[in-house]
Amino acid sequence: MNPNPRPFFVIDGIDGAGKSTQVALLAEALEREGRSVVRVRDPGGTELSDRIRAVLLSPSTPVSPVAELCLYAAARAQLVNDIIRPALEAGKAVVSDRFTWSTFAYQGWGRGLPKEAIAELEAIACGDVRPAHVFVLDLDVSVRSARLNQKGNALDRLEQESDAFFQRVRDGFLSMAQTHPASGTVLDASLPPDEIHKVILSEVRKLLG
Ligand SMILES: Nc1ncnc2c1ncn2[C@@H]1O[C@H](COP(=O)(O)OP(=O)(O)OP(=O)(O)O)[C@@H](O)[C@H]1O
Ligand SMILES: [Mg+2]
Repeated sequence: MNPNPRPFFVIDGIDGAGKSTQVALLAEALEREGRSVVRVRDPGGTELSDRIRAVLLSPSTPVSPVAELCLYAAARAQLVNDIIRPALEAGKAVVSDRFTWSTFAYQGWGRGLPKEAIAELEAIACGDVRPAHVFVLDLDVSVRSARLNQKGNALDRLEQESDAFFQRVRDGFLSMAQTHPASGTVLDASLPPDEIHKVILSEVRKLLG
């Protein structure tokens, strides 16, 4: 493992797993330690990426699996180019809500698209920008449904997918972590938010040295 990677951390996992909650807690903790932190959500963060996000999440716009893959890659490419790479080059820390592993999980495992093609596309989209670590929030698919129902908002295009789809996505995240143990850690997302945060922060501190 690279002992001093660039401080780019990703919180990933299925819908409703608690990503946004943990991104906020981690970013605030790093800021309290005097770091300059850039928070992003993927897709999003640039005008183009936000417009792609809106299309991807709209329940009224049909999107084929391949188009979905390419749109996520395009949104990510712009986010890396405009925000993440410049922030890292300026010595800032970056905390991202989702990143490449979401594409492997959703478009690879969920939609069944070939992982080799995804890997090539991701290499084009992100270049040398790689997370120092990915924290996968792992949650039972039925708990996901309950949390989303609590949220109350109308479900977006992806959230409307079946439990079977989300089970494949969940398995995808677990498989990514299993195949790349130096790059990511699986955390039990059913634990209280502050307990999850403590584990993430301690791992991040270790990586930052
Ligand atoms: N560890 C936790 N235990 C119980 N509930 C949680 C936990 N973390 C977050 N929640 C709650 O679950 C809901 C989803 O959390 P959050 O929005 O952080 O998840 P998310 O992964 O960002 O969801 P989305 O994929 O919809 O953006 C919220 O109502 C949040 O308060
Ligand atoms: Mg969120």
